Amino acid sequence: MSRDLILGIESSCDDTAAALVDREGRVHASVISSQNDIHAAHGGVYPELASRAHVQSILRTIDRALNDAGARGPDLRAIGVTRGPGLIGSLLVGINTATALGLGWGVPTIGVNHLRGHLRSADLEDARVRYPALVLLVSGGHTLLARMQSARDIVVLGGTRDDSVGEAYDKVARMLGLGFPGGPAVDRLAAAGEPRIALPRPLLHDGLEFSFSGLKSAVARVLTQSPPPSHEDVAASFVAAALDVLTAKCRRALVAEPAASLVVVGGVAASRQLRERAGALCDEMGVALCLPPLRWATDNAAMIALATWDYLELDAPPRATAQSRLAIDAW
Ligand code: KG4
Ligand code: ZN
Repeated sequence: MSRDLILGIESSCDDTAAALVDREGRVHASVISSQNDIHAAHGGVYPELASRAHVQSILRTIDRALNDAGARGPDLRAIGVTRGPGLIGSLLVGINTATALGLGWGVPTIGVNHLRGHLRSADLEDARVRYPALVLLVSGGHTLLARMQSARDIVVLGGTRDDSVGEAYDKVARMLGLGFPGGPAVDRLAAAGEPRIALPRPLLHDGLEFSFSGLKSAVARVLTQSPPPSHEDVAASFVAAALDVLTAKCRRALVAEPAASLVVVGGVAASRQLRERAGALCDEMGVALCLPPLRWATDNAAMIALATWDYLELDAPPRATAQSRLAIDAW
């Protein structure tokens, strides 16, 4: 096994993560310190508390990852740290730590686009993206379709006009009293219900852009009805509407321009139902389905470390400076 390793560091939102990954995408160590308990009381991520929790856990997280891999800081090929998009205070904790360690160890520190990390998550371990690919990125912060000719060549086809689909899952979870983080809980509850409640499918027949705020508001209205509908059915109906939209847009993009694979990445790609629906669509279209192994769908540092290998090929890789907003096609 190659001992040429990159240390990835991720702190853009509410997870502090460190991982060591080789050029082939093998994960030698991965540690994720979750802040779920801290944010659960607020029903969502509370930025100031997130930064403080990152400060408390980041050195411990990195130390454990190095120990697990049996690696030493000065022997690393590089450190890749998420530079954006994300919460500025949270990003700064990862960036300042990575920069200080890089200086101390004499190792280059590179600022990495979190979204490029998600794209590369489908190349971790034994997973491999087949190009040209249509990519559906569905996370808490983003929902977009892109075409990729290679890991470095990304053209955005459509984004969301308002909420991301992950945000809609989280807000519906809050309305149903399912706590935080909400996506996995909605996904589980939906499996116990029937999609018998009529809900809108925003922009279903219209282009490659998304909109989820109307769907979220419709769920809120349904919950005020008397007698109240079963929460299982509300969750199932919401998931059916959201997945109808996601798969319809993928189908439209694949019809307009065929691809070798459909790649689904980001936290919502952990949804069992989305994985099944994407699989059915790929069978129908004769396209390969490329998914990250389940544990690399939600935020982690292994995907950041793997993406950092691409940055080493650039003449001038970006420095580690925090960017709260960053487009997917930016380095
Ligand atoms: O990629 P990610 O971990 O963080 C961002 O970069 O935003 O995505 C988090 C989002 C959250 O909205 C969370 O509720 C959703 O992914 N999520 C899920 C599942 N697991 C996480 N949504 C549906 N089903 C899941 N199993
Ligand atoms: Zn993410």
